[in-house]
Amino acid sequence: MSSSVLVTGGAGYIGSITVERLANAGCRVVVLDDLSKGHRAAVAEGVPLVVGSVGDVELVSRVLREHAVDSVIHFAAMSLVGESMERPAEYYDNNVVAGSKLLEAMAAAGVEKIVFSSSAGVYGEPESVPIRESHPAKPVNVYGDTKLVFERILEWRSEASGLRYISLRYFNAAGASENFGEDHRPESHLIPIALQVAAGTRPELVVFGDDYDTPDGTCIRDYIDVRDLCDAHIAALDALDRGQKGIYNLGNGEGWSVVNVIDSAESVTGKQIRRRMGERREGDPARLVASSSLAEKELGWRPAHPELGDMIEAAWKWMLRCPEGYPE
Ligand code: UFG
Repeated sequence: MSSSVLVTGGAGYIGSITVERLANAGCRVVVLDDLSKGHRAAVAEGVPLVVGSVGDVELVSRVLREHAVDSVIHFAAMSLVGESMERPAEYYDNNVVAGSKLLEAMAAAGVEKIVFSSSAGVYGEPESVPIRESHPAKPVNVYGDTKLVFERILEWRSEASGLRYISLRYFNAAGASENFGEDHRPESHLIPIALQVAAGTRPELVVFGDDYDTPDGTCIRDYIDVRDLCDAHIAALDALDRGQKGIYNLGNGEGWSVVNVIDSAESVTGKQIRRRMGERREGDPARLVASSSLAEKELGWRPAHPELGDMIEAAWKWMLRCPEGYPE
């Protein structure tokens, strides 16, 4: 495995748990995060945190050299679909332009390996499920497009230089590790919202549409345990060392509806979750389910925690432990 890794966005939800797991695996890790969304307290103890932008070429190349980094895992990005439609310029600046600067800094410091945090959002409205990597990528929102554009930059730069990349297209990350969890402000994701209602810190959950073409009328998503997702990054670093490159879906291969998630959260917490049927949210595909068979075959990765209830239970335990989220 890589001996020294820079994790951009390592103070965020998926980044923080990846850092924790890398450190536990004996890897040297340094985090770069501007703390616009991330939390200082989400960086595992003993791991250096550099507060700054991935677009700062001078800073990033210095950090890469000083920490003798040989691989980068790039999480830092803006990641809210709705917000991306309202503030497209910021999304392209942060997710594409700053990302491209990161590649410039890597080239300057002679770092060739990168694992990129991409998204199922690149596919847009699926033509068929489960979704394979060969499915057409036609994003229906700015966020998904920024991820696709950056993947294309990676591909063309890898053709032109020594860059070696693996892009991981996540479906819906869920759950927590023992120490780190999901703390978005404001929170927009289904599972933490359901748990906040269960905990009594939010009055109700609005279900965004129950007239979709699915068995119970609510949207179906492929929830993947965040610990499994993070382990896929470690598998991807190993794969890069073996000379592999490319794009991989990360999901469970199973879908759960919004109602399934709320019911499961009720049974895990033993609390009633007050729900109200509301309007559809713009840009929500009815059904997003991954085929992760390529990751299984080529990265040797498969989810170790495939049960929805286990993911929700891990998220609930973390919420009970940190009811206010991370301290600011
Ligand atoms: N939902 C509700 N009520 C809520 C919140 C969510 O009904 O209060 C529904 C949504 O409409 C959707 C499902 O619950 O059907 C899951 O919604 P999330 O917001 O938790 O997640 P998304 O599927 O919208 O988005 C996630 C990531 C994105 C990524 C996308 C790609 O957050 O970054 O998956 O699949 F782009």
